Amino acid sequence: MKNRIIHIGSDHGGFELKELLVSYLQKKGYSVNDIGTFSSDSVDYPEYGRKVAEEVLNDGNTGIIICGTGIGISIAANRLKGIRAALCHCTEYAEMARKHNNANILALGGRFIDTETAKSICDVFLNTEFEGGRHQKRIDLIDKI
Ligand code: RB5
Repeated sequence: MKNRIIHIGSDHGGFELKELLVSYLQKKGYSVNDIGTFSSDSVDYPEYGRKVAEEVLNDGNTGIIICGTGIGISIAANRLKGIRAALCHCTEYAEMARKHNNANILALGGRFIDTETAKSICDVFLNTEFEGGRHQKRIDLIDKI
């Protein structure tokens, strides 16, 4: 997985956590492409899920998407073929999402996760490799759906 650029986006429900993760990731040396939203005004999460998904498909880097629960925005992103957005609540999920599912977008629920857990989930997601092998066959089957 390429990790030079992190494409990140959220709706208003994920705005606060997004802002925090943008500076956290920048401090870690990542180049962060923040596609918004840029305030806590109410917006529609499908737009932000779609935009991040398009960026990820375009350059093969990694995405992070955040809404209130992480549910709506991950449903939206997963509509694009080739996107595997995984909603993670703990580091173990992030690890499995990378190892087994080769997830290319991490989804988080901004209203349901504490900051330190969110940072740890990002660290694990961005630093865990896909295992390939039998898991690749299953991803190929997903792509055939
Ligand atoms: C917005 O109020 C909320 O519905 C959204 O952030 C998200 O939780 C949807 O799945």
